[in-house]
Amino acid sequence: MLVLGLETSCDETGVALYDSAQGLLADALFSQIDLHRVYGGVVPELASRDHVKRVLPLIRQVLDEAGRTLQNVDGIAYTSGPGLVGALLVGASCARAMAFALDIPAIGVHHMEGHLLAPMLEEQPPEFPFVALLVSGGHTQLVRVDGIGRYALLGESIDDAAGEAFDKTAKMLGLRYPGGPEIAKLAEQGVSGRFKLPRPMTDRPGLEFSFSGLKTSVLNQWHKCRAAADDNEQSKADLALAFEQAVVDTLTIKCRRALEQEGLQRLVIAGGVSANTALRQSLEQMLAELNGEVFYARPRFCTDNGAMIAYAGCQRLLAGQHENLAISARARWPMMELEPV
Ligand code: KG4
Ligand code: ZN
Repeated sequence: MLVLGLETSCDETGVALYDSAQGLLADALFSQIDLHRVYGGVVPELASRDHVKRVLPLIRQVLDEAGRTLQNVDGIAYTSGPGLVGALLVGASCARAMAFALDIPAIGVHHMEGHLLAPMLEEQPPEFPFVALLVSGGHTQLVRVDGIGRYALLGESIDDAAGEAFDKTAKMLGLRYPGGPEIAKLAEQGVSGRFKLPRPMTDRPGLEFSFSGLKTSVLNQWHKCRAAADDNEQSKADLALAFEQAVVDTLTIKCRRALEQEGLQRLVIAGGVSANTALRQSLEQMLAELNGEVFYARPRFCTDNGAMIAYAGCQRLLAGQHENLAISARARWPMMELEPV
């Protein structure tokens, strides 16, 4: 089955062609980062308008790259939530219109399920069951995964998502949007041990996260640097490193707790923050201690992309699932409500 996948939930237009027998045939991405950067974050209306401009040329591009035509496509998968409604509607209406014209099924895919399954596109995909850490700009969740659509929420953030904490902290330090990669880059120049930051909610039982206090701690330390006329590039790098280490330690402690609670030794990390090298290294080390294994996607498929949507949609279409003709776009949509495959 050849599936065309469309991702338009936020600030990247992602398109891909996935074949159930041959794997990923082509994928293309247009990132709107430069468009939003001057505003320090994503402007929804600009995002929607840009998706309209990019989506059809990108579809032509992946078809050409794969040497296929629209007539070869057996089904269409599009992100139908959660995300910015105006942006989602672009992918949803395009997918629906094409499916109607071609008389093929279309399916709305949950964006976080897309992220969660992205490591399945790699050479050694994880086997079920496993614990998944979903860390993106909008979500921080620990999920027990027994199969596609068989998800049990173990814990999540009670305030900011991990990626959001990276982005807000970066903004405070005068770094560019998106903050995650900027902080990670700056942290490489940092010296460890100078700033002490908390590991929120690790001193009590449970699998919940809270990152908004951490951001405030960074702000307080930065103000102290300013007051001492010590707000130079080295201080900024030291603080970026301290912040990254605090997030990484906190996530590692909670992942270990979740694996021990569930009696599992396989961990999948997915979403934009799973591209973070320090996080990967810390989790590799923890899993080595547990005789387990950590799985993640190549960096390009950690952040938003069309390949993960094509893959997730293909699994559901293969199982005979698809939707009626309604165009569905959902700003909020709990992943635990998904049907099992
Ligand atoms: O999954 P994603 O592309 O979009 C959402 O679904 O939200 O995640 C974007 C988030 C942003 O907050 C970004 O700062 C963060 O992922 N991110 C990173 C890194 N690359 C992206 N955070 C830390 N380290 C990175 N290398
Ligand atoms: Zn995402």
